[in-house]
Amino acid sequence: MKNLLIPLAACILLSCAAKEPALKTAFDGKFILGAAVNTVQITGADVKGDSVLLRHFGAVEPENCMKSAEIMPVFGQYNWDMADKYVDFGTRNGLLVYGHCLIWHSQLTPDFCYDKEGNLISPEELKARMKQHITTVVSRYKGRIKGWDVVNEAILDNGEWRPSPFYQILGEEFIPWAFQCAHEADPDCELYYNDYSMHIPAKLETAIKLAKTLQERGIRIDALGFQGHIGMDYPNLDLYERHIRRVKDETGLDVCITELDMSILPTVTMSADIAEMSRVERQAFFNPYENGVPEDVNAAWNARMGDVLDMFLRNADAVRRINVWGVSDDDSWKNGWPIPGRKDYPLWFDRSFNMKPFLSKYINGTK
Ligand code: G3I
Repeated sequence: MKNLLIPLAACILLSCAAKEPALKTAFDGKFILGAAVNTVQITGADVKGDSVLLRHFGAVEPENCMKSAEIMPVFGQYNWDMADKYVDFGTRNGLLVYGHCLIWHSQLTPDFCYDKEGNLISPEELKARMKQHITTVVSRYKGRIKGWDVVNEAILDNGEWRPSPFYQILGEEFIPWAFQCAHEADPDCELYYNDYSMHIPAKLETAIKLAKTLQERGIRIDALGFQGHIGMDYPNLDLYERHIRRVKDETGLDVCITELDMSILPTVTMSADIAEMSRVERQAFFNPYENGVPEDVNAAWNARMGDVLDMFLRNADAVRRINVWGVSDDDSWKNGWPIPGRKDYPLWFDRSFNMKPFLSKYINGTK
């Protein structure tokens, strides 16, 4: 009986929400609109979140359940449960299902790159393990995943390669190898390189060079993922726009905005004056909106997010997909990062699942 109640509740909520035009149709012909989902949404326990998701978004990304440490806690030993539920959830609801992420230095299976003595494995062994993992995961969902973040965050802000275990063992060759393995496992699947802070020129340069290297070697890459974890004071939107254009003009590739959220909180830069603050002052500085956001601050957030979306719309020829990194504010990883206990308001739906004001002009056709 309980299992029947969840779909019933979702139907009731969906019918209430049905009066509000759907966001995804507002952007039809512009770009695909998606959202990251967590385990509560995947399992249907977040009835309100799912009703917003299914009403307004046409695509999904897995916030955590397909990362190597989550899907393969020990190398070669898979726990498919949540990943299967995620793909079934997306497929069952007629959504475009994306995969995130095959090779990443974080949330990495602890023994992926190490032997039993804890030493880095050989290049040959790492290539074999990467092929085994990528082939196992990608072929399991062959034909059901529209695109994969094949490699995530391999470039540092200064444009150098991140000294991850993958890089330490194989150098930058681990990246083409990952893309080749993914393509062989599902030749029709779109493949992306994904990273944050792509507004930083040095980082973008390396990403563009990477894309060109793959293209020159005849290795499939379909788009660059700009994660889009932004703030009220970064990035400069003209610069961000120029970078989107550069990717399109210099590589022919589209950009996917893969993890969009915009923190309303002050950007954390540890400086001397913070060190002088009392605990109470520091709490107030770092977590100013625990009990709600002042009207003027909310208005500024909505104005800037509207400018961001308008910029993406101006460049819809180059922006293939926008994926927000969560459904409603309560879902966001930004609650508690980089400082535990913060309350942030970074997504497109608030904690009561109301659409934020900046979106109204798009669904009322006034944009
Ligand atoms: O699964 C464990 C659970 O068993 C345990 O009880 C709980 C207690 O801490 O932790 C759970 O793991 C958490 C995991 O999310 C799943 O919820 C980790 O602690 C937590 O650190 C992890 O955070 C994720 C973060 O990546 C890790 O770097 C965020 O949810 C996720 O939004 C975030 O997403 C990344 C993208 O994948 C890549 N781009 C950056 C973005 C933000 O870091």
